[in-house]
Amino acid sequence: MDYTDIVMQRYATKKFDGRMINEAQVLKLLDIIRYSPSAFNLQPWKIKVVTAARIKEKLLPATNSQPQVTTCSHLLVFCANPELEPLIGKVENALNRTAMPKNVIAQYTGLMKGYVAAMSPERRLAFAREQVHIALCNAVNGAKALGFDSCPMGGFNPAAYADLLFLPEHLVPTVLCAIGYAADAPLQKFRFPREEIFF
Ligand SMILES: Cc1cc2nc3c(=O)[nH]c(=O)nc-3n(C[C@H](O)[C@H](O)[C@H](O)COP(=O)(O)O)c2cc1C
Repeated sequence: MDYTDIVMQRYATKKFDGRMINEAQVLKLLDIIRYSPSAFNLQPWKIKVVTAARIKEKLLPATNSQPQVTTCSHLLVFCANPELEPLIGKVENALNRTAMPKNVIAQYTGLMKGYVAAMSPERRLAFAREQVHIALCNAVNGAKALGFDSCPMGGFNPAAYADLLFLPEHLVPTVLCAIGYAADAPLQKFRFPREEIFF
């Protein structure tokens, strides 16, 4: 399938058939997600992968009882990580292991540190959330490319998710992506016409 077909044929699946995706395929998808671009390459995301039926059942009421949660194979809980300074340190360390000249690395990391230092806590969270949605986009199209289906989901209670999944305090559940094999059919696509979007 070429990329245009992947994008056109992907749809937000409302119900999955309960089959599990094999782990090798899931790992491929996790790598597609992992390789998503992010500003300054900070990768301010953590993704909890939920497979246990018992946990999915607990999450159902916190997801407006949407059946994707209990019928999917894997539920990916995309969390924003607004603690950006440690991530800058990691990027700096990674760059120091490359052939990039040290003065260029110092200049680049100095720029990042200044940019992040000027951000309010709210802006840090907003920044991390923006990056998370880029990874989400790779998740849904990546799933289709690998031969299975997905549903991006914002209809859930983040505080309840944080409690039920015992998430570390600083992580903010931002969006879900249920993956599996569809047990429904896509509705007719509706998108605004080209001329309404591009100007
Ligand atoms: C951030 C985000 C949150 C969404 N939340 C939900 C959701 O909670 N439940 C759901 O069934 N679909 C959800 N969707 C799917 C959209 O409704 C769907 O992508 C849109 O209607 C276009 O349909 P299509 O993806 O099938 O082309 C969400 C999509 C995005 C991008």
